[in-house]
Amino acid sequence: MAQADGSVRPALTGTADAGGLPLAGGPPLLSVSNIEVVYDRVVLVLRGVSLDVEQGGIVALLGANGAGKTTTLRAISNLLEAERGRVTKGRIEFRGEAVAGRSTADLVRLGCIQVMEGRHCFGHLTIEENLLTGAYTRRDGRAAIRGDLERMYACFPRLRARRSSLAGYTSGGEQQMCAIGRALMSRPQLILLDEPSMGLAPQVMEEIFEIIRQLNREQGVSFLLAEQNTALALRHASHGYVLENGRVVMDGAADALLANDDVRQFYLGMGDGGRQSFRDLKSYKRRKRWLA
Ligand SMILES: Nc1ncnc2c1ncn2[C@@H]1O[C@H](COP(=O)(O)OP(=O)(O)OP(=O)(O)O)[C@@H](O)[C@H]1O
Ligand SMILES: [Mg+2]
Repeated sequence: MAQADGSVRPALTGTADAGGLPLAGGPPLLSVSNIEVVYDRVVLVLRGVSLDVEQGGIVALLGANGAGKTTTLRAISNLLEAERGRVTKGRIEFRGEAVAGRSTADLVRLGCIQVMEGRHCFGHLTIEENLLTGAYTRRDGRAAIRGDLERMYACFPRLRARRSSLAGYTSGGEQQMCAIGRALMSRPQLILLDEPSMGLAPQVMEEIFEIIRQLNREQGVSFLLAEQNTALALRHASHGYVLENGRVVMDGAADALLANDDVRQFYLGMGDGGRQSFRDLKSYKRRKRWLA
């Protein structure tokens, strides 16, 4: 959890300890407290996961294959049911309201939207038609939607240039931009982004993350980003959480995590030897014991 001096410490797993930066007045935009998720009634995938996204934050959810990043995002946007998954413990609140029992469309109306892994554009529709499908929950009329479309094109000049192209014929980067742009058309306060860098060339990844920063700065949109690309995500995020085997094993300010020896060794490949688990790390175990 974040310390007063900006350093990081391993999370104390299985506690109701919600991480994140303390907010000056008011609850966080998103608060996940001690959740447990089970698939197919028996497979326990998340245990005691707690995290916060403060208003205006860009929070990175990090971890290797199968750590539970997508499951966490699905739990927040109530998409688990389609995967035969269920939140069996804990509580998730968006803008102070419980997420449980709300439909995904209802959550979108409330301002929380997920961009799924793999971009998911409608290939047979043009980029602009795809973007307009993102406004389906809105009731504020065509002029407002047109205005937002123009504002969005200002952030994504590549989409403006490709507005009449069929999405299926655009590049991976353009499709990722289209998926984010479509989410933006619902006027969200929080976007849950699953692996935005996946399968993209490094330069395009940078471009996407620069746009995320711009949307955050200029339109006040907050982000929770699930990423395997630790270095990229931490360079652009304000705060990060590291998930391993369905638990948060560490969290802190993004710059502190980037400088952290354990993160450098295990997720940035800057130590000797291959990737190991946090759990095998002596210093992690020692610190955990010390903090317990
Ligand atoms: N529908 C499902 N039914 C059963 N188990 C699942 C289901 N979806 C995911 N899992 C399991 O839950 C665990 C976490 O998966 P999840 O997809 O959340 O991880 P992830 O961190 O997003 O991984 P990746 O980086 O590969 O996307 C994995 O062990 C996975 O096999
Ligand atoms: Mg995933």
